[in-house]
Amino acid sequence: MRVLLTGGAGFIGSHVAEAFLRRGDAVAILDNFDPFYDPALKRRNMEEVAASGRVVLHEEDLRDAASLRRIVADERPDVIVHLAAKAGVRPSLEQPALYSEVNVLGTQHLLDAARAAGTPHFVFGSSSSVYGNSPRRPFREDDPADQPVSPYAATKRAGELICRAAVASGGPAVTALRFFTVYGPRQRPEMAIRLFATRILRGEELRLFGSGTSERDYTFVSDIVRGVLRAADTGNSFRVLNLGGVETTRLTDLVRMLGEALDLPVRVRHEKDQPGDVEHTSADLTAVRQSLGWAPEVSLQEGLAHFARWLKAAPRA
Ligand SMILES: NC(=O)c1ccc[n+]([C@@H]2O[C@H](COP(=O)([O-])OP(=O)(O)OC[C@H]3O[C@@H](n4cnc5c(N)ncnc54)[C@H](O)[C@@H]3O)[C@@H](O)[C@H]2O)c1
Repeated sequence: MRVLLTGGAGFIGSHVAEAFLRRGDAVAILDNFDPFYDPALKRRNMEEVAASGRVVLHEEDLRDAASLRRIVADERPDVIVHLAAKAGVRPSLEQPALYSEVNVLGTQHLLDAARAAGTPHFVFGSSSSVYGNSPRRPFREDDPADQPVSPYAATKRAGELICRAAVASGGPAVTALRFFTVYGPRQRPEMAIRLFATRILRGEELRLFGSGTSERDYTFVSDIVRGVLRAADTGNSFRVLNLGGVETTRLTDLVRMLGEALDLPVRVRHEKDQPGDVEHTSADLTAVRQSLGWAPEVSLQEGLAHFARWLKAAPRA
């Protein structure tokens, strides 16, 4: 299969690229090495990806519609896996217009290029943040998703909607996957688990926002990768599917388990809630089980142990 993968130099994308390469697919990556976090980390990810097989790199920006058209026409992918985005909830509060440009307009440009080239299938990396502070738990794909609490969440929901419109107007089939907090080796440095682990390793106090009672589904990256590959293999219309973790976990429990995985003591200071953060996420996995035969396999304890081993061995950027 020929795969065009956007965001392949990033955290999740680099793991997805390796998995496609390992099973013998032809992979082209489009990424602009955005400076949201240190691009040197993304260069290192790309070096590791290249060790799994031959990969073509297009260093281009999603906002450049003409380049996207040319690349999609040249690559003639069987599937586009679109993971490039401005990620991160809190920074989106500072730069909402930039998030819209990249995540909404960039996605539209890519869908247009896919339609022009006759690409049959498009997988969109969406997010559990589209559910906002929905009172219904666990979150189901047909729950209302019209009350985002951050610009980032709004751009991900908008991305899903323009995907749906593209399907209705002769574009590719689309699978939108709502990822629930993903963690594992190469995790983005500003994400909570990585940030906390780095502070614990340095013997520093952790700042926990809110009372610590917020809850999340944490999903190990290898589970997400399995879901993305299964989705990439099977799309034929429009579907939205949750990809969530094995167990829903309180923030205070996460921090305790992280200390255990690192085998180090944890000191915590509570601070007031941050705008944009949701109180709870948990995924209903009925639809994805039926549609892709997918369920998460890695427990939080196992995943944190794996992550801790990686972080202790990882070269510092
Ligand atoms: N990590 C999570 O917990 C999580 C949860 C839900 C959804 N997601 C989504 O999954 C996808 C991957 O997230 P990640 O955590 O790996 O983030 P990441 O920041 O590590 O990866 C995103 C990649 O997109 C690239 N990119 C950014 N702007 C670009 C542009 N204008 N043109 C081309 N490339 C650009 C970046 O350089 C980066 O390599 C994103 O779409 C994100 O919104 C992630």
